[in-house]
Amino acid sequence: MPFDSLTLTRPDDFHLHLRDGAALAAVLPHSARQFARAIVMPNLRPPVATVGQAAAYRQRVLDARPREGAGSDFEPLMTLYLTDRTSADEVRRAKAQGIVGFKLYPAGATTHSDAGVTDLKHVQAALDAMQREGVALLVHGEVVDPEVDVFDREAVFIERHLLALRRDFPALKMVLEHITTREGVQYVAEAGPLTAATITPQHLLYNRNAIFSGGLQPHWYCLPVLKSEEHRRALVAAATSGKPCYFLGTDSAPHAAALKEHAGGHAGCYTAFSALELYAEVFEAAGALERLEAFASFHGADFHGLPRNRGTLTLRREPWTLPERLPFGDAELKPLRAGETLAWRLAD
Ligand code: DOR
Ligand code: ZN
Repeated sequence: MPFDSLTLTRPDDFHLHLRDGAALAAVLPHSARQFARAIVMPNLRPPVATVGQAAAYRQRVLDARPREGAGSDFEPLMTLYLTDRTSADEVRRAKAQGIVGFKLYPAGATTHSDAGVTDLKHVQAALDAMQREGVALLVHGEVVDPEVDVFDREAVFIERHLLALRRDFPALKMVLEHITTREGVQYVAEAGPLTAATITPQHLLYNRNAIFSGGLQPHWYCLPVLKSEEHRRALVAAATSGKPCYFLGTDSAPHAAALKEHAGGHAGCYTAFSALELYAEVFEAAGALERLEAFASFHGADFHGLPRNRGTLTLRREPWTLPERLPFGDAELKPLRAGETLAWRLAD
């Protein structure tokens, strides 16, 4: 007898892009309805690189919450953008102000990563301070070497950089964000209790064929790019394994539809509108719905040393159709799976 409804402790999104201004106002209610808390990525322009910038950004996020009802108690967990110039003092201030982590973007790896780290040798003092203070390093794990195939960038990053990082900073808490490969799954499984990974809904649901089926599909283009079926299966096995080192992080990354649907289209899938429903589909297909709660609501909080949420939310088996477009300031936003029918629906 399949489940017809599923009640979970309120979940968290451990990897989210909220943007700023009108875009923030448009997307925040979607995440706040689904998640009690979210780790907010700092890749604004200019980047959120200081404690002062993070405090101001946090206030703008709070101001975008619904005034009352569902989502009005949403809590943003702030991060800072690691740059070649991040000082040990900034790390100490970050710790004191409750910043949960620093995001490492190799310069040039993705959207708004030009202020990122050009060489890990420039951030040794900051990493040392993070290790001592117990501040997490959140890693976009892809090399930017143009000679490395785009589908191999994560596996090569692990070989070239992550092994050495772990060796040099054995007590540093690290999250390999949005893992996309069998190598990522395996590395995290074997790296010990201070290493974890987030996994997105799109990397669990789709392989790279989705980007090319029936013509070029820009809404399925994100970074790290979708990989082959073998890798997708390894991710599903990891997410549904019950192992505490894997947890939910949507990497929901809104871009105006017009900026995705043109040459040089932007990278990012917008999944915040229906994230839990998408994950539920994955867990159900794997026969592991009873493990969704730990993945969505326990493992990430435990890893980051946060209390588990109180309260619950309920998913019902109830087909519904995702809107074609959502308002996005002056523009429009196309959710992943726009116009398609989903099997699960979050109850109000
Ligand atoms: O697809 C992506 N979009 N990957 C990232 O790493 C950044 C994100 C964004 O901010 O748009
Ligand atoms: Zn991201």
